[in-house]
Amino acid sequence: MGGAGVGTRVRVFPDLAAASSALAGHVARRAVAAVADHGTYSLVVSGGRTPELLYRTLAQEYRRKIPWRLTELYFADERCVSPRNPESNYALVAKTLLRTVPIPRRGIHRVRGERSPPSRAAAEYAREISPANGHAPAGARFDTVLLGIGPDGHTASLFPGSATLTERRRAVVSVRSSGLPPYVPRITLTLPALAASSEVCFLVSGSEKAGALARILGSPSGQGGRRLPAARVRSRGEVLWFVDRAAAAELGGRLHGTSVS
Ligand code: 6PG
Repeated sequence: MGGAGVGTRVRVFPDLAAASSALAGHVARRAVAAVADHGTYSLVVSGGRTPELLYRTLAQEYRRKIPWRLTELYFADERCVSPRNPESNYALVAKTLLRTVPIPRRGIHRVRGERSPPSRAAAEYAREISPANGHAPAGARFDTVLLGIGPDGHTASLFPGSATLTERRRAVVSVRSSGLPPYVPRITLTLPALAASSEVCFLVSGSEKAGALARILGSPSGQGGRRLPAARVRSRGEVLWFVDRAAAAELGGRLHGTSVS
């Protein structure tokens, strides 16, 4: 088995627009299937610049095609700022998606990044995700988790070398400083919480991510603790990568145990 894990698939698209459009279609199909199967769809979203177009596509093209009223929306991570601060992941998702789609207020589970201390916000969020997701080692289970990566290989707010990577018990933790802007503490789901999901979809765009992506998808499992955070993400089902050509530039033949289309 390669570092990319069993059930990892990589799809390469000409640009971010094409990758976002394919991922939006995928989310819509999963939402319909999840609602048919268990009556709700739980979707975890991330922050950063890359998913803006995806969220706008979901809001505009899929406003009527996704069962939003039966959707529960969660956050993979949050910056410790007010929900009105432009650096807030909630603010991004509110602006690009929640203004348009009819998710009931009770279905929007935001991390209270404005709470102090951050450990309190993390504990509150852990309680928030547990009742709806009562299974699994870390007490969390989601239908789809949407993630991005940084050029350093981080994902959510799981940064290289951080103690959060060894968390086994808690589903949510606070992170003191990320070493990246914005320089504020963060709250993040942990690797066990992500691993309890039914699937994870990464969206990656741009040449500045090419090196990290090649390391993530090319790292054999034997690299253990040295593997980048995004390379350690698992799910109960597949880990799907929606990648644009610029980000895929260094992949070459370095994929281990991964199918590429
Ligand atoms: C955050 C994220 C983070 C993000 C990556 C990629 O809060 O910053 O959730 O993990 O997904 O940093 O961000 P970009 O898309 O801006 O490169």
